Amino acid sequence: MGKKVLITGGAGFIGSYTADRLLEEGYEVRLFDSLDPKIHPHGKPAYVSGDMELTVGDVRDREALRSTLQGVNAIIHLAAYQDYLPDFSTFFSTNAVSTAMLYELIVEDKLPIEKVIIASSQFVQGEGLYRNSRGEIVSPDFRTREQLERGDWEHRDQWGEIMEWIPTPETHFVPPNAYALSKASQEQQGIVFGKRYDIPTVVMRYSIVQGSRHSFYNAYSGACRIFSLSYYFERAPTIYEDGKQVRDFVNIHDVVDANLLVMNDDRANYRVFCVGGGRPCTILEFDRIVAREFGLEHLEPSIPMLYRYGDTRHAVSDISALEALGWSPKRTVVDSVSEYAFYLRSQEGLKDIIGEVENQMKGMNVLGRATKDKRD
Ligand SMILES: NC(=O)c1ccc[n+]([C@@H]2O[C@H](COP(=O)([O-])OP(=O)(O)OC[C@H]3O[C@@H](n4cnc5c(N)ncnc54)[C@H](O)[C@@H]3O)[C@@H](O)[C@H]2O)c1
Repeated sequence: MGKKVLITGGAGFIGSYTADRLLEEGYEVRLFDSLDPKIHPHGKPAYVSGDMELTVGDVRDREALRSTLQGVNAIIHLAAYQDYLPDFSTFFSTNAVSTAMLYELIVEDKLPIEKVIIASSQFVQGEGLYRNSRGEIVSPDFRTREQLERGDWEHRDQWGEIMEWIPTPETHFVPPNAYALSKASQEQQGIVFGKRYDIPTVVMRYSIVQGSRHSFYNAYSGACRIFSLSYYFERAPTIYEDGKQVRDFVNIHDVVDANLLVMNDDRANYRVFCVGGGRPCTILEFDRIVAREFGLEHLEPSIPMLYRYGDTRHAVSDISALEALGWSPKRTVVDSVSEYAFYLRSQEGLKDIIGEVENQMKGMNVLGRATKDKRD
């Protein structure tokens, strides 16, 4: 108690909730955040408590980072570049280089840091693990454009049979894009530098985190935002592929519980943990949960055979390692959706940004349409 925790990206979704809980538990909290206008177009969010220090700065700025590291006992490194844009180097300069710089400064200035927690992502697991028709566990490559154009959505084994997804553990590591590659680098740096310099480090590989405060303007905030905004404006959302893809949604308060647990449990040191919801949910199921929340179950989603090239088909993490430390997800997807809907309804002057995001994706050649139905 009385310890000071620095949270980079602390004005964001996961950071602010983690900060609130730390404050409740008697920690002092310092936030370091660039207030990225793409995430926070109206500046400092109103939910940031006045009981915390907030320094506006960029994790790429070495001297700003050095200064904010002084006098803290622990660091939660959440600031990150998250986007679908093809500016590959920005993912590395923000996510990977900032992590290297954190360890460099801790070592250089001999800082007495007792714990570093690094935010990674389920994306690091790529397509995840599957069981083929012979019962073997395999790691499929991503689906080709040609396959997606046929509307043949599932992963198939070499004999053409549909494979079965299985929950993927933290040992699996196949980053498929620049964001995931930068997160994978952060993971490895945390484990290697942490062990090498005795800086207890834990990597948290979050699945899709849901709850209020997730920026409406963050193109990365996914299904909850898109579906909720659609139903809010009484429009049926568009579902990609066939909607049977399985996702792993985890509630923000469960994520905060997990962050606090590993902060105080030495058994977590130098390890990577998947932080998922523990209950797989298809996009079709998710759609119905949101429609019910907005009282619009009579609206049917549109399923026009569109796909996003690069999307994983199914993504579910194996959370047993974190469960073995005593954590388990306690909130449901219904809880997350109703919390998000409450937040959305409390906003003023919210503009309809769905069309804007879809146009952005079309412009980036991410959205495609299957031209045939299923396999020939
Ligand atoms: N939310 C999820 O579903 C999810 C899933 C997997 C991993 N993660 C990871 O968790 C972390 C937190 O995500 P979040 O959902 O809270 O995101 P968020 O966008 O709500 O918060 C990120 C914060 O970082 C700040 N930031 C961005 N670039 C910065 C920079 N260069 N310097 C300083 N601050 C900067 C932003 O202003 C923002 O406040 C990220 O590392 C993200 O990659 C999130």
